[in-house]
Amino acid sequence: MARRFPDGFLWGAATAAYQVEGAWDADGKGPSIWDLFCRRPGAIEHGDSGEIACDHYHRWKEDVELIAAPGLNAYRFSVSWPRVIPNGTGAVNRAGLDFYDRLVDALLDDGIRPLVTLYHWDLPQALQDRGGWASRDAPGWFADYAGEVARRLGDRVTDWATVNEPEVVAFAGHAKGVHAPGVRDWAVALRAAHSLLLGHGLAASAVRAASTQARVGIVLNLSPCHAASSEEQDVGAARRADGYLNRWFLDPLHGRGYPADMVETYGELLDPSCTAELAGWNGGLDFLGVNYYTRRMVRAADALPLRLADVNVPAAQRTEMGWEVYPEGLREILARVRADYQPPVLMVTENGAAFDDVVSASGEIDDEPRRAYLASHLAAAADAIADGIPVRGYFAWSLMDNFEWSHGYAKRFGLYRVDYDIQRRTLKRSGEWYGSLAQAHSAIHEARR
Ligand code: FCB
Repeated sequence: MARRFPDGFLWGAATAAYQVEGAWDADGKGPSIWDLFCRRPGAIEHGDSGEIACDHYHRWKEDVELIAAPGLNAYRFSVSWPRVIPNGTGAVNRAGLDFYDRLVDALLDDGIRPLVTLYHWDLPQALQDRGGWASRDAPGWFADYAGEVARRLGDRVTDWATVNEPEVVAFAGHAKGVHAPGVRDWAVALRAAHSLLLGHGLAASAVRAASTQARVGIVLNLSPCHAASSEEQDVGAARRADGYLNRWFLDPLHGRGYPADMVETYGELLDPSCTAELAGWNGGLDFLGVNYYTRRMVRAADALPLRLADVNVPAAQRTEMGWEVYPEGLREILARVRADYQPPVLMVTENGAAFDDVVSASGEIDDEPRRAYLASHLAAAADAIADGIPVRGYFAWSLMDNFEWSHGYAKRFGLYRVDYDIQRRTLKRSGEWYGSLAQAHSAIHEARR
């Protein structure tokens, strides 16, 4: 398989600040919406929180070694906004920026290319108190913060993602209420989604103003949306699922405004000024990051506004998240994005699987289901590259087991196992395999030079 990836391919692993850093109030950090959401009774399995997580804020040095050791050459991490600007706007917390500054230096020393995500869900609570992403001021707040980070790191960091998964931020956070800030209101969610798009645009400009070498993209969670039957109503439901998940973000980012069928589906929930504001707007993407875990299979149902329900494919293999293992969906979504939107560069910014790992008596973790998952999805990415799709990197989710949002620590996605009691990291067999693949590939290209 190694021969099928181009020279310069990024072989990476990913994490996000709130999921790994811990140190939730260290060195002047302000509270985030996740710090507060985790305290809501029943919000998180077992009442877990990210207060300590993997203690990466204190163990960053040893964690950088974890990336290089198996043979990876890239790392996607996120910056915690409330660590950098505790109140969301205004005074910068120097100690917070220093942390990321040291991290970037250590990565580069080890030959690891950083891809920095500016927003992976931990909004400063102070900004939620002022309306959060639903506020018309949110895009400006985000751009100011992005500029601060880029002015500090932009002399060394070239690859930037503004927002991670605006669909999840907007709808899990503001329509379904299962993520922070725990709001249940579709009109508010659509307003938040709009701010996230505009915020992406303003933040991208701020990053480019701070660093001429910056390449800026956004990370979307995309999935093929299939109909459970060929009945017309189910086919319509699949089209709405696609409109909700994929086109609501892809269309505006590529200069097409909101998709007309979905504007009609949302009706009065969508403020008409939102559609108007997108006239002449596009996301100016240098690259598009795609997070892919599974496909969606849906049928028609009554629940408003989308009138669809998810259907479980019988007999399919599933991960511990209950997600169907469907590697061909990665090739399908990459091909579709390329055919419909032609982004200049694509990266698989997250892909991976939660399985219940078994630790042997001698302490080894032979996680064959995860290894097989990664292998089948990397093969799908290689097929996409063979089709001529410009996929330039792949980031396994995640470098190490971590705080999996509303599931707490119950779900393990890591290439490394984390024993949270003593904060020990152990490379799993899947991580070893993935690192060898990366190394074998790099060796082939080295030999050709
Ligand atoms: C994605 C998130 C990431 C992680 C994976 C499993 O939606 O971006 O933080 O939780 O799912």
